[in-house]
Amino acid sequence: MNRLRAWIVLLAALLCCDTAAAQRPAPEAASGWTQKKAVFARHEMVAAANPLAARAGLRILHEGGSATDAAITVQMVLGLVEPQSSGLGGGAFLLHWSAAERRVRSFDGRETAPRAARPDRFLDSGGQPLPFYQAVTSGKSVGVPGVLRMLELAHRRYGRLPWARLFQPAIRLAEKGFRVSPRLHELLERDRYLRRDARARALYYRADGHALPVGASLVNRAYAATLRRIAAQGAQALYSGPIARDIVRAVRSRGGDLTAADLGHYAALEREPVCAPYRGVRICGMGPPSSGGVTLLELLGILERTDFDRAPPLSAQAVHLFSEASRLAYADRSRYIGDPAFVRVPLRGLLDPAYLARRARLIGERSMGVARPGHPALAPPAADVPDSEHHGTSHVSIVDRAGNAVAMTTTIENAFGSRIMVRGFLLNNELTDFSFRPGADGLAAANRVEAGKRPRSTMAPTLVFDRDGRLRMLLGSPGGPAIVDFVAKTLVAALDWGDDIQAAIAAPNFGSLNGPTLLERDTAARELGPALAARGHVLDAVRLTSGVQGIERVAGGWLGGADPRREGLAIGD
Ligand code: DON
Repeated sequence: MNRLRAWIVLLAALLCCDTAAAQRPAPEAASGWTQKKAVFARHEMVAAANPLAARAGLRILHEGGSATDAAITVQMVLGLVEPQSSGLGGGAFLLHWSAAERRVRSFDGRETAPRAARPDRFLDSGGQPLPFYQAVTSGKSVGVPGVLRMLELAHRRYGRLPWARLFQPAIRLAEKGFRVSPRLHELLERDRYLRRDARARALYYRADGHALPVGASLVNRAYAATLRRIAAQGAQALYSGPIARDIVRAVRSRGGDLTAADLGHYAALEREPVCAPYRGVRICGMGPPSSGGVTLLELLGILERTDFDRAPPLSAQAVHLFSEASRLAYADRSRYIGDPAFVRVPLRGLLDPAYLARRARLIGERSMGVARPGHPALAPPAADVPDSEHHGTSHVSIVDRAGNAVAMTTTIENAFGSRIMVRGFLLNNELTDFSFRPGADGLAAANRVEAGKRPRSTMAPTLVFDRDGRLRMLLGSPGGPAIVDFVAKTLVAALDWGDDIQAAIAAPNFGSLNGPTLLERDTAARELGPALAARGHVLDAVRLTSGVQGIERVAGGWLGGADPRREGLAIGD
């Protein structure tokens, strides 16, 4: 029964419709398809979800800024022009490749639960999970934002330009105004909750309640003032003082329990990245509390131990093997992954070659339907409970002239987060990434809510290295629970099928979140339906709105790609 509910929740999260559905959760939606060409650059490149952000990042690289400097500028512009996806009020994971040190570092700027948070946070008085959007739009969903502290940590290590300089492009744009894009307009128009926040309503909507039209100039003076403070005082300006006080007040006025001490105690962390081989390359990703890296590596590790290499690209056999590997990896993700400060995550066991081979042997000619979690070495007992993730995220890929690279996935969780606006930016609803149910059958869920804990993520910023250790590719995507499938599809299209990065991103999405096999609507993947159904797959044709931004090394430079499903741009020189 639990499993059935899990399917329904996950599918609801992915089913994204052309018209605003009445009751169905409406995650960050598709807003059309724009054909894009791969972009070549000899020296440096930025690929981001919005052209204004990508261009601002490239200008920082032109000034001699590092990939990390550019990532900070890109993030500040994204918080202005793509407020539905990420910003100061949210969290992020950043993977950094230092060409000089020949070293990958990963930075964790994930939001944390307040000290007052308890495992029953998202249950009603009868012990049942709260309706998703009731939880999202209450102050209870807001975790301590982490992105700014994380960027500060990365800048201390890898920044080249002064911190304050990196905020100027976003300040200028916020004061001068930028044109509302079609995607921002559509998401604003369609959102049912953002208008309830007086500050957001005044900023994004006309008096008649409609969103600012496409092309309207949007000035956000409050955001500019916030950035000026942060530029002058550092990240501390958000974690104490007047901005922090306003965050606490806004969250508590909506039923939340965040305190000034919660903000004051926040720390971004440097963590060990997780890395594993795949068909002659080495792939590195983000470790827990993101499930992104380990689930991606498990999926690919299982796939490598099947006949996937003999299946023609985008054939029924390829999608069969991929979606079965995806099922097996998602089943383990669901049971075992949580904040490593609270639960023992059996990382080694999950990526152990013998375990991967055992998992791969479970794949037969017909679909297994639903995979059971496996028993990797040193796995603690844990409950299987449904996920409750939804959509609002952005991915940035950057390489600088020195060959350093940043892959950063950044989020406020749902589109427009908690819909609580403070000083020109929106607060996240990341805590709804926790399991609403604290456990089942007498066992605790690895991802249950606990005080000071970071909710499990699926974000998967990814770096790929050649046999000789040279950086070959970097990428990542939004997409909530489907992120791992989106990144894995792009990787197999590029590494196994020989697509260039743009073609790999554009290739139809498919996969499984350990529920029905998902095929991207209105694409060639749909044609595989009858052959997959004949192998026992229960199919669902859905919009799978990835937002992959990727860069790959090619002869003489770099090739960049941006997802045709969103408004991103790869640009370089
Ligand atoms: O951290 C996570 O996995 C989610 N909060 C990410 C949400 C997301 O990717 C939405 N994308 N459209």
